[in-house]
Amino acid sequence: MKVLAIHYSQSGQLTQLMNNITKQMEDEQISVEHIVYTPQKKYPFPWSKEVFFDVMPDCVLNRGCEITAYELKDTKYDLILLGYQPWFLSPSIPTMGLLKNSKFKAVLKDTPVVTVIGGRNMWINSQKEVQIKIEEVGGKIIGNIPFYDKSQNLLSAISIMHWMFTGNKTKKWGIVPLPGVSEEDIKESSIFGVIIADYLKGNIKELQGAILNTHKIDVKWSIVFIEARAKKLFTFWAKLIERKGKTPQKRKQWLYFYRFYLIFALFIVSPIVLTIYAIIFRPFLLNKEKEEKIKILSV
Ligand SMILES: Cc1cc2nc3c(=O)[nH]c(=O)nc-3n(C[C@H](O)[C@H](O)[C@H](O)COP(=O)(O)O)c2cc1C
Repeated sequence: MKVLAIHYSQSGQLTQLMNNITKQMEDEQISVEHIVYTPQKKYPFPWSKEVFFDVMPDCVLNRGCEITAYELKDTKYDLILLGYQPWFLSPSIPTMGLLKNSKFKAVLKDTPVVTVIGGRNMWINSQKEVQIKIEEVGGKIIGNIPFYDKSQNLLSAISIMHWMFTGNKTKKWGIVPLPGVSEEDIKESSIFGVIIADYLKGNIKELQGAILNTHKIDVKWSIVFIEARAKKLFTFWAKLIERKGKTPQKRKQWLYFYRFYLIFALFIVSPIVLTIYAIIFRPFLLNKEKEEKIKILSV
């Protein structure tokens, strides 16, 4: 059994998750080839606010970037473990770069893929894009293991900005919950390695059921609600910024507007809309919500 485990990580969080999962697989005698790829253009970590928001249009419009050359030992694998992180509700620019990379597209063909996501808490839209790209070249996602911050959405938005802008995975003001995937979830990620190894030896098609049976993965209705609307609005903003921001000065100005819009939408509009929806509409839509959740969690 040959597995290709490939990812990019800025802080090392996704590397920890990938390593914990693959270590268990290697303990089960599965041969894993590890590739940590890098984009040709370096993205800073920690980020400056200007650069952070400046990547939004490229993320949302799925532009991708060139990937630094890498060598693969084989041309065919029994499974690809693709680790990635969402940026602005889309696959990160390096992830999209990899998915457009001809060497990677060649190994994806007719190969089962398990995606490992290391995000904040909004991965549904990006997973749809990743799935489209994989299927376009004849690959198939047979398992998805999203890791995310389980704290309240607004607190997690505050904490991730603190982490991204300082590089420190610490408590903002000493009180906001820690950012990103929790230490406990990172530690426990190894159980997924055991599950994948078992299924590689048996029936790989039923992998996702076993992943969900751990009861470690869930989607909150409020996140599904926000993500569905936010992606459309981000696409509108991305196109507007590209259209209006023809000079660096103008682009900077429009990115400023977007930044204020984002803070306003996240901290003022979304709590009001979610409350109204929860009181008036949600009680009548619980069955639809359940169906949608099953669809999101299946592959
Ligand atoms: C520019 C940028 C945008 C991000 N947008 C999202 C997002 O839309 N949804 C999400 O769940 N996480 C988002 N994150 C968090 C990342 O998915 C990821 O968890 C974090 O950057 C740590 O990943 P690393 O392993 O590359 O360090 C964003 C991070 C960055 C840098």
